[in-house]
Amino acid sequence: MKIPFNKPIIYGTEKNYLEEVFKNDQFSGNGSFTKKCNKIIEDKIGTKKAILTSSCTDALEMTSLLAKIEPGDEVIMPSFTFVSTASAFELRHANIVWCDIRPDTKNIDETKIEGLITDKTKAVVVVHYAGVACEMDQILEICKKHNLLLIEDAAQAIDCKYKDKYLGTIGDLAAYSFHETKNIQCGEGGALLVNNNDLVERAEFVRDKGTNRIHFNQGKVDKYTWVELGSSYLMSELQAAFLYPQLKNSSEINNSRLESWNLYYNELSKFMDPDKLPVVPENCVHNAHMFYIVLDSFEERQQLIEYLATEGILAIFHYVSLHSSPYWKGKYNDIELPVTDQVSKTLLRLPIFYRITESEILHVVEAIRNFKKK
Ligand SMILES: Cc1ncc(COP(=O)(O)O)c(C=O)c1O
Repeated sequence: MKIPFNKPIIYGTEKNYLEEVFKNDQFSGNGSFTKKCNKIIEDKIGTKKAILTSSCTDALEMTSLLAKIEPGDEVIMPSFTFVSTASAFELRHANIVWCDIRPDTKNIDETKIEGLITDKTKAVVVVHYAGVACEMDQILEICKKHNLLLIEDAAQAIDCKYKDKYLGTIGDLAAYSFHETKNIQCGEGGALLVNNNDLVERAEFVRDKGTNRIHFNQGKVDKYTWVELGSSYLMSELQAAFLYPQLKNSSEINNSRLESWNLYYNELSKFMDPDKLPVVPENCVHNAHMFYIVLDSFEERQQLIEYLATEGILAIFHYVSLHSSPYWKGKYNDIELPVTDQVSKTLLRLPIFYRITESEILHVVEAIRNFKKK
């Protein structure tokens, strides 16, 4: 049996919607499918303004422009994340300030944020790892107290909740990813969510090369012009049409993934300690984006990866923490982030995707059990 790490989801009706794009004869951004997708996100998730983008990286870059990050402004974020969380701000010449993570959820450690704030701090960026929420009440309070912008990197967190609020609606701004590795996908894609009323209009300008084309389309001006620093962040209609049926049916898709996730959890907890398995706090609803386990050491993880490969199973480690990356180390000072370092060395992601079968999951579990017995 060969089990891939991921199979990009195809819901089944994408081709029908792609054909509609041919009939509509609009292929560029902000056409009818883009508007339908934005509306689903706005109505269901409850954000003030959703804007499809060509990636989550783009949406994060938009947050950095909207935050008006200037050289030397400090932005606090975890180092255990994807490069885009940081590069969006590095591009604006911010000083990135790394915060360690919690050993349980692998999310930013909210108790360590306040100690990192200086008079140069402009924003806090949180990452909801594996679709499990950061401690948003405490983080929101810190940001309000110090007048900081709160940005959610919710790349993995479509349909997830913290205390009944959808992730992506709690900060001033948030970013989703629809890359093919995510629960719903259109190849490359993302969305910016704008929750802060003051940023809604500027977000529409930034998305469209910094122009007020939206006002022109709405008949508010007789020609459009350059009004903001922006870029071309629009998603094409072809991608929006592909995404549309998946976005419409995301709850069904995620519930099916949750069944797979629960099967992994129940079977693995028969022989693994709970602290080696994913932790989902009671007030969080997650979307089974990922199933990971934690090994005792880097060496044990390497041996397990190799053993699973002999069983036809592709399991993959996750982020090489950004503060230890060649880009960072070659340019900036060393910093100690003990939990980040430990998690980065020992966490292993198991195969999970839409319609993974029960027998595939049981085969992975059996292989891990056999490895552990040795
Ligand atoms: C936490 C996080 N942020 C941002 C991204 C970037 O997403 P995209 O590939 O849509 O640009 C990823 C991608 O996996 C991610 O995991």
